Amino acid sequence: MEKAQLLFDPIWVDYLKQNPQVKKIYELFMGLEEDVVNDHIAFRTFNDPRINIDVLAKPFIEAGYEFRGEYNFEEKHLYAKHYELKGFKDAPRIFISELKLEEMSPFLRETAIEIIDQIPEEIITNPMLILSGRVWEKPSFNIYEQIRIESEYASWIYVYGFRANHFTVSINALKKLNSIEKVNNFLKENGLILNSSGGEIKGSPDELLEQSSIIADKLPISFTEGIIEIPGCYYEFARRYPDKNGSLYGGFIAKSADKIFESTNYYTK
Ligand code: NI
Repeated sequence: MEKAQLLFDPIWVDYLKQNPQVKKIYELFMGLEEDVVNDHIAFRTFNDPRINIDVLAKPFIEAGYEFRGEYNFEEKHLYAKHYELKGFKDAPRIFISELKLEEMSPFLRETAIEIIDQIPEEIITNPMLILSGRVWEKPSFNIYEQIRIESEYASWIYVYGFRANHFTVSINALKKLNSIEKVNNFLKENGLILNSSGGEIKGSPDELLEQSSIIADKLPISFTEGIIEIPGCYYEFARRYPDKNGSLYGGFIAKSADKIFESTNYYTK
């Protein structure tokens, strides 16, 4: 666990620093003296063999993580894998997804390859690639918009690069806010907006997993056209239920995750 913790700490620090809204929620939970345990940490990438899931997973595998499940999201052209740390049931799961570039338009595919080509050799081969941020030239809002029409997921990577897309609070570990309804109400009482795509609660006790998330707050991004605000990262909440053998379900539900991805969709307000 110690080796894995050395990976999580800088990822968590970066995530809090980048996303003031997440820090605010974390502090609200601390105010209730809750134990904030991470259910999973999620990352996004493209399926280019230089930076695909298997490349990003390397430092976790070296820290003792093992592959546990894979998922397909046909409509969003995504594939994902999840990993667990053997022997540590409280360690966060690692969820890494990738966009299938061969299914996208030539424009999107070529833009992705162009930015990957710009990643310096010492960064692309560094085990901490996962925390390197945007390692290509300043983004263009015009290109962001063009990509976004086709894939909100790809437009997020184009701007933010390699960093945690979200952390997820384990509701099972909370003492006071011990149901997803209580968590959601607490967030709403504090002025936060939930992702309501597919309903505020994704999944059910029957599916052994319930999830909710906030809509990513907007962050000012320096584009070649100037500073423009776009959605950053979000915070997710998950409650797991025991299966018929009595062990807590550890996987993910594709149709719920499909809607959770939309927490970073662009919006105007
Ligand atoms: Ni998630």
